[in-house]
Amino acid sequence: MSTQPARATVAENVLGKAYDLRLMRQLWRFVVPHWRLLVISACLIPITIAFELAQPYLVKIAIVDHIAVGNGDGLEWLALGFLGLVAAQSVSSFFEQWAIQLLGQRSMHDLRLTIYDHVLGRRAAFFDRMPVGRLMTRMTNDIESINEMFAAGVVTLFADAIKMTAIAIIMFSLDWQLTLLTFTTLPLLMILVNYARNAMRTSFRVIRVRLAAMNAFVQEHLLGIKVVQVFRREDAAAGEYDLINAGHRDAYLSSIRADSLMYALVEAIGILAIALVAWWAARDLGASTSTIATVGLVVVFIEYINKFFIPVRDLSAKYAVMQGAMAATERIVELLETEEPDAPATEIKAGTGPDAAVAFDRVEFAYGDEPVLRGVSFEIPRGKTVAIVGATGSGKSTLIKLLTRLYEIGEGAITIAGTDIRALPPADLRRRVTVVSQDAALFAGSVFDNVALGAVASGRTATREEVQQAVSRVGLDRLLSNRPEGLDAPVGDRGGAFSAGERQLLAFARALARDPEILVLDEATAHVDPEAEELIERGVDERMRGRTTLGSAHRLSTIRHADQIVVLERGRVVERGTHDELVARGGVYAQLERTFHRAGR
Ligand SMILES: Nc1ncnc2c1ncn2[C@@H]1O[C@H](COP(=O)(O)OP(=O)(O)O)[C@@H](O)[C@H]1O
Ligand SMILES: [Mg+2]
Repeated sequence: MSTQPARATVAENVLGKAYDLRLMRQLWRFVVPHWRLLVISACLIPITIAFELAQPYLVKIAIVDHIAVGNGDGLEWLALGFLGLVAAQSVSSFFEQWAIQLLGQRSMHDLRLTIYDHVLGRRAAFFDRMPVGRLMTRMTNDIESINEMFAAGVVTLFADAIKMTAIAIIMFSLDWQLTLLTFTTLPLLMILVNYARNAMRTSFRVIRVRLAAMNAFVQEHLLGIKVVQVFRREDAAAGEYDLINAGHRDAYLSSIRADSLMYALVEAIGILAIALVAWWAARDLGASTSTIATVGLVVVFIEYINKFFIPVRDLSAKYAVMQGAMAATERIVELLETEEPDAPATEIKAGTGPDAAVAFDRVEFAYGDEPVLRGVSFEIPRGKTVAIVGATGSGKSTLIKLLTRLYEIGEGAITIAGTDIRALPPADLRRRVTVVSQDAALFAGSVFDNVALGAVASGRTATREEVQQAVSRVGLDRLLSNRPEGLDAPVGDRGGAFSAGERQLLAFARALARDPEILVLDEATAHVDPEAEELIERGVDERMRGRTTLGSAHRLSTIRHADQIVVLERGRVVERGTHDELVARGGVYAQLERTFHRAGR
């Protein structure tokens, strides 16, 4: 369990612009198919604005032409017109919002599917670099951040800009001198907005990093909850979480401070603008002849100034949304752009006889810089069983992962029936080679679902009889007899309702139900007792008679009968032969054999 609180990728640290053309273009791909909704919304924006901005103008007419001069004629029509404008604005704004929200939901749905497909298609190396917790965040939180942009971001910012321009034009046309006077407050506003933006940017960066740390911590501790409890780490973990949590809270508070300050100051500047109008009016009233016009102008100006400042006041909130969305887009684009190139298929090497079901030819591989496999060569003749033996970490599992192309081979070649695996379509390769590994991955569902999965992968649906047969072959039916549901017994989350050994039996049944051409066992009986092991062996033997099997094991009892034993040491094949040959030879294998006997197993 790691106690490192702040772990963030570069992408989590880099929190740049609120708007980035390259990223926007990437998002645009997902919006384009729903362009009609965008057009609807874009057309409605100016209409909504027109309905809204016409309202103060009607008020001005009412004051100047009717109320101030005591002329009640037609006033009721003006009132009705005002009501009509309000209603029209609501309706137009409703459809504008509806269209944009629908657009957001549909594009995000597409984006989610695209990401999911992309992630499912990645090689194992990708998942080594990308922890599950971070992937989850990408696929949920990040998409949500982008979604929020549709709800409150881009389109409203765009609409706000139009509205503010329209207001400025109307004000200028009403009285350009008064407008200039009002707008003397704008430089102050810009300085403020700029300052607030910087403050927010800093705190958002901190929030994001802290949030990532918090998610990573929670995920790690929940997954390892049993270890936390068994080692009585609850208090320590809670204390650590408290610390991370407090850091997150403080970062959030500082962003709230910046936001509140901005809100209050924009409000104050708006009032200052109104005060300027009032001052001008007071001065004008003393001198001017047309006081009525002045009153009307003042009223309408105050209305427009208010409408002008509201978008500015909300700007910081929208800015936050935009910035979050851009950061999220950046991470999602990064995710979508991760593609591992396929290694080119090499010429089929000499010495790979047509009767070799599987051949490893001078295979080299490294996860990082340290080579893990160094020139491994051996063959599995068709219908034979080959066992790989070696100490923990000698590269047995790695060899198997290369065979199924979970990882891409470094140098050399692996061939199946004479064909380079890189030339085989992945679906073909995985249909022909079935792996049972040490940690059997089960999915929430019934025993039947989990066993039938193997058949589904090979392109056909397993019947209940086939599943039943596979289950009895590995002796799982005896265990299932304790469960009233039988084949329909739930296996729990990640197979949690079964013991590690039972999970392995299930994985065996799954592999056998699939009727594999080549069966690969990677310490597949590590968790079961010798009795169950024997049962499995018999079941596998029966099913795999005359077929090819590659097995790795650290327990020698399971490999004694292999046609050929390959001994691996630090990524190199050091010995090959049958059990008797290798024992007689008195090398590494014989040494292992002796320890094994001493251990009494
Ligand atoms: N995903 C991985 N990333 C980096 N190194 C790995 C990874 N998986 C295994 N290794 C390293 O590769 C070596 C061989 O591992 P493995 O093939 O699993 O050994 P074995 O199955 O024989 O116990 C070990 O030193 C192990 O630490
Ligand atoms: Mg292993």
